[in-house]
Amino acid sequence: MTGHRDRSVQPRPEPPLRARLRGVLPCLAAAAALALAVSAPAQAGTLSISCGALGRELQLCQDAVDAWSRRTGHSVRIVSTPNSASERLALYQQLLAAHSPDIDVLQIDVVWPGTLAPHLVDLSRYIPQAVVDQHFEALIANNTVDGALVAMPWFTDAGVLYYRKDLLEKYGETPPQTWQALTRIARRIQAGEREAGHPRMQGFVFQAKGYEGLTCNALEWIDSFGGGTVIAADGRITIDNPHAVAALELAASWIDDIAPLGVLNYDEEESRGVFQSGNAVFMRNWPYAWALANAEDSPIRGKVGVIALPRGGDAGHHSGTLGGWQLAVSRYSSDPAAAADLVAFLTRYDEQKRRAVSAAYNPTIVALYKDADVLEAVPFFGQLYDSFAHAVARPSRATGNRYNRVSAAFYNTVHDILSKPDPVTPQLQTLRRRLERLSRGGHW
Ligand code: GLC
Repeated sequence: MTGHRDRSVQPRPEPPLRARLRGVLPCLAAAAALALAVSAPAQAGTLSISCGALGRELQLCQDAVDAWSRRTGHSVRIVSTPNSASERLALYQQLLAAHSPDIDVLQIDVVWPGTLAPHLVDLSRYIPQAVVDQHFEALIANNTVDGALVAMPWFTDAGVLYYRKDLLEKYGETPPQTWQALTRIARRIQAGEREAGHPRMQGFVFQAKGYEGLTCNALEWIDSFGGGTVIAADGRITIDNPHAVAALELAASWIDDIAPLGVLNYDEEESRGVFQSGNAVFMRNWPYAWALANAEDSPIRGKVGVIALPRGGDAGHHSGTLGGWQLAVSRYSSDPAAAADLVAFLTRYDEQKRRAVSAAYNPTIVALYKDADVLEAVPFFGQLYDSFAHAVARPSRATGNRYNRVSAAFYNTVHDILSKPDPVTPQLQTLRRRLERLSRGGHW
């Protein structure tokens, strides 16, 4: 982590949890579920874990947690939290600032270790180095803050492009290598299908709601045009550049043309809903959508291809944002050793294999990318190995615990750019100035 940690997020005395929650819950989607969960405080021998968001995650987590409970005799309560990464972070910050023991094990996003580190246990005290070394080195480095391993990688993610094989074939098109080609093909097939009696057909769906998912999508557009990563690894603010402008101008042109206006309010599951019901030619999403698109009850089963996201023109490159989730133990857990044991169980080889084969969650254990069962269940894990191994990171390491504010400033600006016809350049200049203020003169 570069820069020093903002002392304002250090644990400090807080009013009782129930009082704190009264302030935060009304604005959170999972308010009711959580309120129920916290009304029954953890007993000795009982752990709680927050897990599950997109697709089959919750069920997968439940199955594995049950298996661990049977082995160890501990009972485990699953605390449901909001699907949206941005809302989930807000909830965790409230709970952790209150030193709440209500969640022992937290599922945390790949961009949060720098923000949440002061509240998390150093897992290297509990998990042997040889086990840690099985995982992608870059993820272990990402999860190591000031020398402490604050989370174990659970699954990784990279943005990929889903397309309808049958429709591309019907129109004699091949999968697009550039965003410009995607735009043309999407427009052509959308028009053709609408004329052929499919009025709801959309060319392209993605995540353009104002939340963390839009940061991931927009980073891919901009990076693929050679426009950088908003903030460089050394902390420099790079967003105000002509490649970024070109990328965002193209993306803005999609709205209400190849993408429905409603995409401005889509997250992952909303995009998947449209694509999976057969109403879109292309979709940007994470790998989890593969297993669901090919499930027995899916109308598009067997009709879907997956490739790397397009390049930003012939001079650009393929780019997929690095996503993924980790498991961490709260410093306020009353049984950190048992909680760390649960983390070790959930992140181990056999469990990552089960999740990959049955639901297309990308392993973080390198050897699983050579496992025949995994490659058979999700062929693109092998074909797109490079996209996963070299996915582009959001600037969370460079910005430390300010990442969340940086990301919010970025996705709000991008959301405005997509929603209104105003010129892009001045909006990126304004964003640059806002980020400069946030960085206190370039020092994150
Ligand atoms: C996925 C990614 C995560 C990202 C989120 C944004 O869950 O794994 O890293 O922040 O999507 O919506």
